[in-house]
Amino acid sequence: MDVQDFNGQRVLVTGAATGIGRACALMLALRGAEVWINHLGQGDASAALVDEIVTAGGRATAIEADVSDPYAVAEMFACITASGPLDGLVNNAGIIQEQPFLDTSEEDWRQIMAVDLDGVYRCCRHALEGMTVAGRGAIVNISSELGHLGRENYVAYCTAKAGVIGLTKSLAREFAPTIRVNGVAPGPVDTAMVSLEHMSEEWIAKELAIPAGRLGRPEEIAAAVCFLLSSSASFFTGQMLGANGGAWMGG
Ligand code: NAI
Repeated sequence: MDVQDFNGQRVLVTGAATGIGRACALMLALRGAEVWINHLGQGDASAALVDEIVTAGGRATAIEADVSDPYAVAEMFACITASGPLDGLVNNAGIIQEQPFLDTSEEDWRQIMAVDLDGVYRCCRHALEGMTVAGRGAIVNISSELGHLGRENYVAYCTAKAGVIGLTKSLAREFAPTIRVNGVAPGPVDTAMVSLEHMSEEWIAKELAIPAGRLGRPEEIAAAVCFLLSSSASFFTGQMLGANGGAWMGG
């Protein structure tokens, strides 16, 4: 039996219209999962992904919700779980902001935390309610190498991503052995987030100086996510996989 066969499994991927989330949703669907493609204001991109999956013989539904909004997330989960609990959740939605710490206002700080940390907490909470009743499930949270390393001018982002690591490990302990909770802490990956629109040339040059000497591809992160969600990873919980081109080699 293919241990990365997700047939019969229902998986929600947040922020799945683009980048890493899109690659995760596509890979999971092509391996048999029925996927929910959460997005925020990206109806066209989500619909295109649903079409691609359905054309390939898979099952997918786009669902809009701002993960920083408790009411929108509650509504999204009510809608998804009306037809049964989730088997898998990938908390991928995220935002980044380059900003010197002393220029970071309370509002800027709260905005990053609201999406990158509170959104993960909130979706874990809803998913775990159903998974606990069902007695099965797996969660993968997307953190970042920067959650381990820290980075000047990205204090809020790094703090939120470090929070995701603590949340992942703590939930793994609290919900073991029934539900596995793991994470992936990617290095620099070639998506809209790591573009000149968001990053300085200096930042990108620094990222390219990692041992791999290149940016990662979204599919390389999706492969790690699929592994952790699958029964191949049945002895993994509370782990952060470093799909990072060698950017961080800590334990
Ligand atoms: P991306 O910008 O393509 O993906 C982020 C997605 O999250 C977008 O589709 C965006 O619309 C969605 N999103 C943002 N705020 C949202 C909200 N409030 N509610 C619902 N969806 C929302 O960028 P990428 O690179 O694919 O990022 C995915 C995740 O990977 C993020 O959590 C990011 O922090 C993390 N990451 C990315 C790295 C990179 O180098 N690209 C490195 C390490 C981590």
